Amino acid sequence: MASARQTALRAATPIETADPFATDVLAGLSAKPKRLPPKYFYDAAGSALFERITQLPEYYPTRCELALLRDNAPAIASLFPPNCALIEFGAGSSRKARILLGAAATVEAYVPVDISGDFLQQDAAQLRRDFPHLAVYPVVGDFTQSFAIPATIATLPRVGFFPGSTIGNFEPHEAAKFLRHAGAILGHGAVLVIGVDLVKDTKILCPAYNDAEGVTAKFNLNLLARINRELGANFDLATFEHHACYNREQNRIEMHLASTKRQKVKVAGKAIGFRAGETIHTENSYKYTVESFQALARGSSWSPLKVWSDGFFSVHAIRNQESEVSSRN
Ligand code: SAH
Ligand code: AVI
Repeated sequence: MASARQTALRAATPIETADPFATDVLAGLSAKPKRLPPKYFYDAAGSALFERITQLPEYYPTRCELALLRDNAPAIASLFPPNCALIEFGAGSSRKARILLGAAATVEAYVPVDISGDFLQQDAAQLRRDFPHLAVYPVVGDFTQSFAIPATIATLPRVGFFPGSTIGNFEPHEAAKFLRHAGAILGHGAVLVIGVDLVKDTKILCPAYNDAEGVTAKFNLNLLARINRELGANFDLATFEHHACYNREQNRIEMHLASTKRQKVKVAGKAIGFRAGETIHTENSYKYTVESFQALARGSSWSPLKVWSDGFFSVHAIRNQESEVSSRN
């Protein structure tokens, strides 16, 4: 049975809606060139597809980062203040946080923040069983916005964790804005541990986003399936193709969905026209050098403390130099 939201969105005439997903989708599909925000990849199906991506032979970032975290967990944990709260931005399955929690016995509380609630509650229950002394407070929300830290742990010193090179999905100016925002949440002097994928040969980069099994294509196309499911749209997925290519000038992988023919699609009551070959730009995945990331961090009031790298991926520890703490909640 269609939900009230779906029924409303299937109305024949375009409707004014306060639903941020509908608003962002209609704005993105009306823009030139067409685009959609990558944060909407992560409904239940998208999160499950992302987990499959992390296990693909071509997708090196997860394997590299897990190895860097395992090999250097004691050194990373030594940077944490005693009795701190670990706040993770875009936690997903919390697999990487478990490595740090295992090495940092004095972490008192763990706050995984994610826009996709599907893993969060279930993982929180398992984490509480595996780390009985840890207080786990999952937050379902957008990490670019402010969110509430429970009063019981509000006074603990905070450490940030932002793995996966999710920072690469921001434009550089958005990444700088996010780092300032994270600084305001974590407080002056706080440490942020952040995973950043490195610039490298396209022979390695391109297959990571064009895997032989087609899982990344499914992940990309799921965005249209989600729009069909939640906004009552009529995208024919067989008429859109996954494209991923490296843009050398901008040091980023770009993902697009290309219409294979001229067509019109109805989204939330609005007709959206596509030319044959026209694309929707769905994601950027910026790649940094160690130095270019450190320059970004310095420009956002963070000072580099330490970096661990295998030449493919990097894990940075940076310290917040911003003295303004008024927005810490
Ligand atoms: N940290 C995990 C998952 C990375 S995938 C890892 O390293 O493997 C990116 C994660 O960030 C997803 O779980 C997604 O749901 C979440 N995410 C993306 N944009 C977000 C946003 N704006 N606010 C909160 N979570 C977001
Ligand atoms: C979460 N993010 C850093 C992944 C990336 O590599 O940009 C998302 C992803 N997109 C396609 N494959 C993986």
